Amino acid sequence: MNNIDIKVTCLKDGPLMLEGNVKVLNASGEIIREAEKMFLCRCGQSNNKPFCDGKHKQINFSAG
Ligand code: FES
Repeated sequence: MNNIDIKVTCLKDGPLMLEGNVKVLNASGEIIREAEKMFLCRCGQSNNKPFCDGKHKQINFSAG
């Protein structure tokens, strides 16, 4: 890996927003998504983990 410069923002009562040269790898080290911006689930209820699918809104997730 090289040139990793990523900004991670915890959105209020929502997912983690990642901005930059973002790559998500599976346990085998294969890239499963690559993008300039993506959202990772923080509530634990997404049906598309590790990505946010909007479920946090349905369950009124609160990050405390
Ligand atoms: S944070 Fe969005 S589905 Fe979990």
